[in-house]
Amino acid sequence: MVSLLQTDGRDEHYFTEQPTSKLELGVVHTHLRGELFQFLTASSVFSKRRVDPGTRLLIEAMELPESGSLLDLGCGYGVVGIVAATLNPNLKIVMTDVNRRAVWLSKKNMERNKVTNIEVRKGRLYQPVAGLSFHTILSNPPTTAGLKTALSVVSQAPEHLKEEGLLQIVVRTRTGGKRFLSELKSVFGNVRIQARKSGYRVLISKKP
Ligand SMILES: C[S@@+](CC[C@H](N)C(=O)[O-])C[C@H]1O[C@@H](n2cnc3c(N)ncnc32)[C@H](O)[C@@H]1O
Repeated sequence: MVSLLQTDGRDEHYFTEQPTSKLELGVVHTHLRGELFQFLTASSVFSKRRVDPGTRLLIEAMELPESGSLLDLGCGYGVVGIVAATLNPNLKIVMTDVNRRAVWLSKKNMERNKVTNIEVRKGRLYQPVAGLSFHTILSNPPTTAGLKTALSVVSQAPEHLKEEGLLQIVVRTRTGGKRFLSELKSVFGNVRIQARKSGYRVLISKKP
C-alpha cells in the first residue's frame, strides 16, 4: 500500500547521485518474510510505489548467516538490509547507495522499523566499503545504470567477501540474466539458481 504526501510530477533516474527533483514522499506498508514493515519512499529513488518484485524474490530466497557481516549494495530506501537486520539482529550490516536521497531514506527507514544493527554509507559500488569484507553480499544490481556498472557488482565481489562468503543477487531473466549467470560462473567458478518467479531469478555464488 502506498500513500503519497506531496507531488510535483518531475522525476529523475533512480541512480542520480544528487537528486534535484522536488521531494515527493510516500509510505509503503508491506509484509516480508512474515513481518510487517513500513518504508518511507521518494521521487528519484528506485521503485518508490511498491517493493519491486525482484527485490521481494531476493528477500524471500536470501540465505542469512547466523552471525557476522552483511552488505546490501545499492540499497535504495533500504528494504533488503532492513529485512535482514530484523530477521537477524546479530548481523552487522552495511547498506550503500550512490543516490543521496536513497541514503537519507534508508536512515529514516531504520528508525521507522526500529533496527539499529545497520550503518548506511554513500558512494559508488564498493568504494564506501574499501578494505572491508563480508560474510554475505546482497544486491538487486543497478542494471538501468548500465550493464558494465551492474556486472562490476559481481566482478569486484570476491575482494569484499570472506572465505566461503556468498554473493546473492536478483536479475531479470530477460535483461542480462544469462550474462550475469556466465559472469558469476567465470568469477566464482560456481553459481546456483536459488529461486525463479515472474521473470526474475535469484543467483548465488560462493567464494571458494
Ligand atoms: C535496482 S535498484 C535496487 C534498490 C534496492 N536495493 C531495492 O531492491 O529496492 C539499484 C540501486 O543501486 C543504486 N546504484 C546505481 N548505480 C550505483 C553505483 N554505481 N553504485 C552504488 N549504487 C548504485 C541505485 O541508486 C539504486 O538504489
